[in-house]
Amino acid sequence: MTILEFARSKPAKAGDLPYTAEVAAKTDALYAKVEKLITPAEWRLHAPLIAAINDLKREKNAVILAHNYMTPEIYFGVGDFAGDSLQLAKQAAATDAKVIVQAGVHFMAETSKILCPEKTVLIPDLAAGCSLASSITGADVRLMKQKYKGAPVVTYVNTSADVKAETDICCTSSNAVEIVEWAAKEWNSDIVILIPDQYLAKNVAAMTDVKIVTWAGACEVHERFTVDDIRELRDGNPGIIVLAHPECPPDVLAEADFAGSTSGMSNFVKRHQPDKVVLITECSMSDNVSLENPKVNFVRPCNLCPHMKRITLTKILRSLQTMQHEILIDPEISTRARAAIERMIALPLTRQSMYTHAKAPQVLAVEARA
Ligand code: 13P
Ligand code: SF4
Repeated sequence: MTILEFARSKPAKAGDLPYTAEVAAKTDALYAKVEKLITPAEWRLHAPLIAAINDLKREKNAVILAHNYMTPEIYFGVGDFAGDSLQLAKQAAATDAKVIVQAGVHFMAETSKILCPEKTVLIPDLAAGCSLASSITGADVRLMKQKYKGAPVVTYVNTSADVKAETDICCTSSNAVEIVEWAAKEWNSDIVILIPDQYLAKNVAAMTDVKIVTWAGACEVHERFTVDDIRELRDGNPGIIVLAHPECPPDVLAEADFAGSTSGMSNFVKRHQPDKVVLITECSMSDNVSLENPKVNFVRPCNLCPHMKRITLTKILRSLQTMQHEILIDPEISTRARAAIERMIALPLTRQSMYTHAKAPQVLAVEARA
């Protein structure tokens, strides 16, 4: 029986599929990319799943969009495209495949479905959520719009379709500063509503004169990093370069050497090849970036995102076998949400947002549900 016949025939998990000569032939080149981190014994469990997923993908005309926080066996083994939220949204919009499997969290799969309503979009685990996305609803946004009449609403992509539908334009951490400034000009407003991440909003506020109103949301992974963590790291590793994600609190960003989206951090390492670096973000980032930059030494304190870590090879294979869990969105909400995402994608921005704390990270207000 070939690995494809095996994969077609029954649901499988690590250990059910044999490590055969066919599997080795199909996965040896992939193992070469990850062998510094994954032991041969672990690989013998991953490889049959990877071979089965890649064969089923071809049969079903599917692509796997893998976020930078996926574990290396997913990122390097089965991901057709990897990147940050903005890059994955652009890839979803551009792909010819009939099926998209989102190796990421629910809001990313919704974004793909909104951009490609005619395609089948699958999320391998429906419970892969996000503390930012669950912090706010469409009704919350409608109340904010009443309170700050005339102010444009810029919404981080880490939100539900319902929230995006109430939005003028979306942003990601790679373009938030430029989009806030663009929206203020376009709406001729000195106030912009930037939701739902209060820390991203404050970090943007440090880079612009636009007055920002935000929401009391936070990323449960990035809000846990502290200034003391960074100082201890610097004390223990003289000369280390500290890169942080803009979902971290502003005092943490102020201590970093560079802040940017997940791909912004990855590009920084590729370009500068520092001797020693730490990425103040989710754990799998350092694994993936270190494999792509073998000369750079990585110090690895990190926080796990429990939602991202719900996505495993076994669940990706199940998802392709059963075509579950399919993302479905109310067409009226989807159309409105799509306008906000497409507006972001269409803006001709030439550089990534920088977060160098040119001024105090002060926002006008942090709104919360009454
Ligand atoms: P990026 O857009 O930087 O990939 O961030 C997504 C995310 O969920 C970070 O926590
Ligand atoms: Fe959401 Fe934070 Fe996890 Fe990203 S890392 S998906 S923002 S909880």
